[in-house]
Amino acid sequence: MSARSLFDPLVAAYDAARPSYPRRLFVDLEWLAGRKLAGADIIEVGAGTGIATRQLLARGARVIPVDHSPGMLGRLCERTPGLGAVRADGEALPFADAVADLVCYAQAWHWVQVPVAAAEAARVLRPGGALAVWWNDVDGADLGWWERQQQRLEAMSPGYRRDHRLRPWADELRWTGLFAEVVTVSGRWSRTLVLEAYELWLRSKSYVQATGDRLEDFLAAERRSLLKAFPDGMITEPFHTVLVVARMDPLGEGVVIAPPVATLRDP
Ligand SMILES: C[S@@+](CC[C@H](N)C(=O)[O-])C[C@H]1O[C@@H](n2cnc3c(N)ncnc32)[C@H](O)[C@@H]1O
Repeated sequence: MSARSLFDPLVAAYDAARPSYPRRLFVDLEWLAGRKLAGADIIEVGAGTGIATRQLLARGARVIPVDHSPGMLGRLCERTPGLGAVRADGEALPFADAVADLVCYAQAWHWVQVPVAAAEAARVLRPGGALAVWWNDVDGADLGWWERQQQRLEAMSPGYRRDHRLRPWADELRWTGLFAEVVTVSGRWSRTLVLEAYELWLRSKSYVQATGDRLEDFLAAERRSLLKAFPDGMITEPFHTVLVVARMDPLGEGVVIAPPVATLRDP
């Protein structure tokens, strides 16, 4: 299946079971981007069914959602009537230069080639604008049921590795030389789901679907393992949310590569 249509069969599970993002993330985003979300022009790439889109709209931002999956965008438009969405690739954005205050990727930056998508983001950003990328990651270290789930996935889902999203995201953006400043913040939280909802959450993951004709075996093993850890069928899962914000030079005069070595003082 091509990357473009990978998410199409996941739409219903995705929309029902994926977590939204903690309120704190949007407070940190305003702080690091140096501006309020209210009134900001935002291009949100990999918008999917619109989970982050609706959170940005609720804070008064003007958002143009972009995605290359027709299924995901279709659901976004049903859930958010009247919002214009654009079917396009984050690596070739169909927008003029310097039109956005923020370019955002919620749970989607790992799907693009960083040097190409970062250059596209920098092109459409206004001076002083920012690229913001973030993820909700499960923080399961030291949890027996999580360890068993990861071992099962590494055995049953071709190419899956639990550390697939452990990359130096901020450094990769610094290395492009496109941004004046790159900052990372993170926070922890958790949510509790009944077993049936937790199973839907598993089904919404592309690497779980990649187990193919072993999917039902995988889910049956998960049910047994989860009920051992959570006999009342209420699954509590810890999350780690990471936000990386890369700011453009406010004067539009090029990139500050290093801080000045000396400060000039008035005589
Ligand atoms: C994991 S989903 C995230 C959806 C949503 N942002 C959220 O927070 O739930 C990733 C989304 O990125 C989209 N995507 C992946 N690569 C893309 C690309 N190169 N250009 C545009 N969209 C892309 C997928 O179609 C999918 O809808």
